[in-house]
Amino acid sequence: MDKLEIEGGVPLRGEVAISGAKNAVLPILAATILADGPCVLEGVPDLRDLDTMIRILRELGVEVEKGPGILTTQVVDDSKCRAPYELVKTMRASICVLGPLLARRKRAEVSFPGGCVIGPRPIDLHVAGLEGLGAEMRLEAGYIHADGRKMSGREIYLGGAYGPTVTGTANVLMAAVLTPGTTVIEHAACEPEVADLARFLVAMGGKVVGIGGPHLEVTGVDRLTGARHRVIADRIEAGTFMTAAAITHGDVVLRGADASHLTAAIATLTRMGVTVERRADKSIRVRALERIRPTDIVTLPHPGFPTDLQAQFMATLCVADGNSFVTEKIYPERFIHVAELQRMRARIRKEGPTAIVEGVDYLSGAPVMASDLRASAALVVAGLAARGTTLVDRVYHIDRGYERIEEKLVALGARIRRISDRTPAPLD
Ligand code: EPZ
Repeated sequence: MDKLEIEGGVPLRGEVAISGAKNAVLPILAATILADGPCVLEGVPDLRDLDTMIRILRELGVEVEKGPGILTTQVVDDSKCRAPYELVKTMRASICVLGPLLARRKRAEVSFPGGCVIGPRPIDLHVAGLEGLGAEMRLEAGYIHADGRKMSGREIYLGGAYGPTVTGTANVLMAAVLTPGTTVIEHAACEPEVADLARFLVAMGGKVVGIGGPHLEVTGVDRLTGARHRVIADRIEAGTFMTAAAITHGDVVLRGADASHLTAAIATLTRMGVTVERRADKSIRVRALERIRPTDIVTLPHPGFPTDLQAQFMATLCVADGNSFVTEKIYPERFIHVAELQRMRARIRKEGPTAIVEGVDYLSGAPVMASDLRASAALVVAGLAARGTTLVDRVYHIDRGYERIEEKLVALGARIRRISDRTPAPLD
C-alpha cells in the first residue's frame, strides 16, 4: 500500500488548480440513469470513488466512457436494478443510485451501506423520504428492495437529528423528477453539491424550483433527455489547500475554487489571522504572515462550517498561539484523526463531541496511519508543517477524494513523495 513521505517546514508558494467536486459528480453520475440520451460531464476529477461509481453504473446498464476531465454516459440496458454489495461496501455514496432506479425503472435492489469509521451513518431519512413518495421498501439479506410503481408527488420533510441529509436530499430529488405530480422537499440540504445536481436535472429537462435553498419544489416530467454539464469545483479540496498554505506560513493562489461556497471556511481562517483575498480573476489568495491564532469551530450543515474540513482545520489549530474548541455537530464521533495528530506532538483532549486543542510551538514528524479520507488529508497538512519526516500510511484513503495531491503539493514547493509498494489497497 502506498505511503506519503513528507519533509515538513517548507512554506507553500505558487498556484494550485482546484479539481471538480467529488461530492457533486457522484450523485450527478447516478442521475445519468434517468437520461434518455447521452450525457457529457466536464470538469470531472480522476478519483478512486469515481471509478467505483462508474463500475456500479456499468453493472446497471449504463455505458460510461472516461476521458481526461470528461465522462460520457449512455443508458443501454434499462432492465438492471441491482447494485452489488461488493461495490456498495467500498463507497457509501453508491446509495445515490436508489432514487434514479426507482424513478426510471420503478424497482431497485441496492446493498445496504455498511459501517463507517467517522461514526454511525444511518439511511433512515433516505428510506422515509422515498416511502413518503409512495415507494415500498424492505430490507432483505443485506439489500434494500424497493418498488416504485405507486410513487406520486407529495410533501416530504427531510430533517434529522443532525439536520438535513445531503445524499438523502439527492435521492428524493432524483426520484421526484420523473414521478407524476408535485413533490415538495422541506428541510432539504443546501450544500452546493445538491444545487449542482439540481441544475443538472434541470439541464436534462427536469422541473425543480428553489435550488440552493431548504424548500425544493419538483414537478414530475415523463422523460429526461441527455445533457452536458460542468461540475462545480471541490470546495473541500480548496479548503484543504487553504489550511496547507496557512499551517506552512505560505502564499498560495487557488484557481477555479468558488469563494461563495467557502464563506464559513474563509471566515474561520480570517479569525485565525490568515489573510484570504478574493481576487478579480476569481482566484483566491491565501497568506499566513503571522502565527496562527486560536479559534472555536462548530461544524454545521451548509452554509455553516463543513464537517469535511474539521480535521484539516484542527491540524492547523494544533500550532495556534493558544487553545481552540472544535465541536463536531454532524458526526459527533468524527475524531479518529486525533490520536494520530497526538503522535505528532499535538495536545488535544476530547470531551464528548468537542476537542480542546492546546496549541504547541511545533509538530514533530512521525509515522502515522490514515483512517478515512479527510483524516488522512489532515495528517498531510500536519506533516507539511512538522519538524522532520512524516510517513502517512494507507494513502488509498486520500486517493478516494483528492486528485494527484502530492503532485499539486510538489508544484507548491512541498517536499512530499509517494512511496509505492505493490501490495494492492484493500477494498476497505
Ligand atoms: C455527505 O454524506 C458527504 N458525502 C459527506 O462527505 C459529508 O460529510 C456529509 O454529506 C455531511 O456534509 C457525499 O456527498 C458523497 P448526510 P451523507 O446524510 O449524505 C445523519 C467526504 O469526506 N443522517 O448529510 O452521507 C448522518 O448520520 C464525505 O467527502 C441520518 O441520521 O451525509 C449525519 O449525522 C464524508 N439519517 C447527518 O445526518 C439519514 O438517513 C448528515 O448526514 C441520513 C443522515
